[in-house]
Amino acid sequence: MTTTIDTLTARAAVHAGSGQEMTLHQVEVAVPGPGQVRVRLRASGVCGSDRHVLDGDWTLPSPTIMGHEGAGVVESVGPGVTELQAGDHVVLTWFYPCLSCSACREGRSWVCTGSRSEECLLPDGTTPLSMDGQAVYPYLAVGSMAEYAVVPVQAAVRIPADVPFDVAALIGCSVATGVGAVVNDAEVKPGRSAVVIGSGGVGLCIVMGLRLAGAEPIIAVDVNDASLELAQGFGATHAINSSGRTTEDVAREIRELTDGGADYAFEAIGRVETIQQMPPFLTRGGTAVVVGLPPQDRPVALDLLAFAENGQRLLGSNYGSTVPARDFPLLARLYRSGRLPIDQLITRRRPLDEVNEAFEDMRAGARGRTVVLHE
Ligand code: APR
Ligand code: ZN
Repeated sequence: MTTTIDTLTARAAVHAGSGQEMTLHQVEVAVPGPGQVRVRLRASGVCGSDRHVLDGDWTLPSPTIMGHEGAGVVESVGPGVTELQAGDHVVLTWFYPCLSCSACREGRSWVCTGSRSEECLLPDGTTPLSMDGQAVYPYLAVGSMAEYAVVPVQAAVRIPADVPFDVAALIGCSVATGVGAVVNDAEVKPGRSAVVIGSGGVGLCIVMGLRLAGAEPIIAVDVNDASLELAQGFGATHAINSSGRTTEDVAREIRELTDGGADYAFEAIGRVETIQQMPPFLTRGGTAVVVGLPPQDRPVALDLLAFAENGQRLLGSNYGSTVPARDFPLLARLYRSGRLPIDQLITRRRPLDEVNEAFEDMRAGARGRTVVLHE
């Protein structure tokens, strides 16, 4: 029996330019093409990267459908797709590998050079969404703050159907980013000390990853006591409120808690000032990991003489060097076994109608993660 797949319409949160609120529109969603799948989205996390876009920190094709941390159910598949079928529960990745560049061929798909995710396009250079005949661009080729998405099949990874959609959505960005930064990028060994600057959605996932890796102590630094309290619930052994304190003052406290400085520092905010704090927090030979993404064209000044003399290392960590097909099911397993309490990250759930309020929660310093649930 053959079923006909038609275009459909979906409600979506559309962002028309920096400084403007998102507005809800009906958008046209194309039939999935060869190698593509159409997904009925069920949940979308509210992530700091969306906020960067809304605030105009980064330039993107516009109008944009926001959301890049999504999970849902495959609704239909395009010609040639055998890996997935309608009804499969999937987590979407916001960096789909092209599968043909030299990095992908070497098995290093996290540094793929052929992906068009960052242009908000499908591999063939098109967008599957339009509004009144005009092209609209799903953020990072996901656009999870909409009822449907069309993505290349390698962007949708099947996970067990008993993982709740809100948890699954977070696996698609903050959990993969935070746990991956620890496990894939820094490769933290048991007993090593670590500082995490920023205890938002991503920072808390770094703390969870550090606990999983056996780091000790795990020191959370934030300006918000409520966020620090949450970090302790996820495994931070110490919490430092850095509000109104100098870097040197905080560094002294970290030296006392560790053996003269941390082996690892992770920045999970994306602020120039806090990225600059990492080297002073480290011991000699320590590693600074940049996870938070600063605004475009904002170089960071570092004392590289001290850095070199101290034999320190600086790592850029993008999406935790995630291999979605390997890491999403692995993270789902760790959630199911209780080793990654991802559900505890979710402090608020809102319908799509309240998408602007969801970002207000974040700007107001909400603890943990808000998730938008699609009916
Ligand atoms: N010092 C310490 N902590 C701070 C400071 C500061 N100067 N300013 C803000 N914070 C804390 C906030 O209190 C909050 O707990 O940083 C945290 C930021 O968390 P979120 O706003 O939830 O951001 P998140 O979604 O975790 O993203 C962080 O990671 O992937 C990137 O693009 C993303 O750059 C963003 C970063
Ligand atoms: Zn994200």
